[in-house]
Amino acid sequence: MLKIENLHVNYGGIQALRGISLEVPDGQIVTLIGANGAGKSTTLRTISGLVKAASGSIQWNGEELLGKPIDKIVSGGIAMSPEGRRVFPDLTVLENLKIGAYLRKDKAEIEKDIKWVYSLFPRLEERSWQLAGTLSGGEQQMLAVGRALMSRPQLMMLDEPSLGLAPLVVQDIFKIIQEINRQGVTVLLIEQNANMALKIADLAYVLETGTITMSGTGAELLADERVKEAYLGKNG
Ligand SMILES: Nc1ncnc2c1ncn2[C@@H]1O[C@H](COP(=O)(O)OP(=O)(O)OP(=O)(O)O)[C@@H](O)[C@H]1O
Ligand SMILES: [Mg+2]
Repeated sequence: MLKIENLHVNYGGIQALRGISLEVPDGQIVTLIGANGAGKSTTLRTISGLVKAASGSIQWNGEELLGKPIDKIVSGGIAMSPEGRRVFPDLTVLENLKIGAYLRKDKAEIEKDIKWVYSLFPRLEERSWQLAGTLSGGEQQMLAVGRALMSRPQLMMLDEPSLGLAPLVVQDIFKIIQEINRQGVTVLLIEQNANMALKIADLAYVLETGTITMSGTGAELLADERVKEAYLGKNG
């Protein structure tokens, strides 16, 4: 389980996170919703070790993560699919996937996991030898998710996996997130599409300018008038 307590993060003079506390219980899908600039990506980037915290704590299975190098955090079981489909454009699909396993030495298991990722995303298998930069936007997003899975994470963090995708592809991505979770991976999800995120979330937090203002089950927040007004649009 991941447990964040009173976490503060600053970028120069900007206070991006102002003492947030939250929990991601094992086996659950947890979502973080909030407006642009609320601090959602900062939260994931701090967990990953990409951004330094000013104070607070992030405990992962009882161990402090703050101050640990990125590779130790990855090998400890936490992976992230970053915002904006960051794939290596000049490498093939298969090469991109292998990079996701760069800290692992168990060759046979890596081969198995490539098959696992291809079973989740058959589209990637068909395009195994294609250069990632020539994939469609949705395919690149699938590859970013697949690459993160190649570290065999216990906790998978996804930063806006559906951004810019056509509605049908968005549905596919959400189905796959649920499937990954069914296979035992804990999920921490950030989504502009709050409606769909709350529908699949066991637990949800609302982040407003660096502060957690609400939390509850996905269903509770879906039914909350303030959440409806601010994040779900008139038709929910
Ligand atoms: N590297 C940086 N340097 C300075 N300020 C930053 C940096 N990264 C983020 N910020 C600021 O920190 C705040 C939180 O940004 P963050 O990217 O975490 O928001 P977000 O909730 O992910 O927003 P979005 O929904 O637009 O992706 C914003 O005000 C942003 O401008
Ligand atoms: Mg963001």
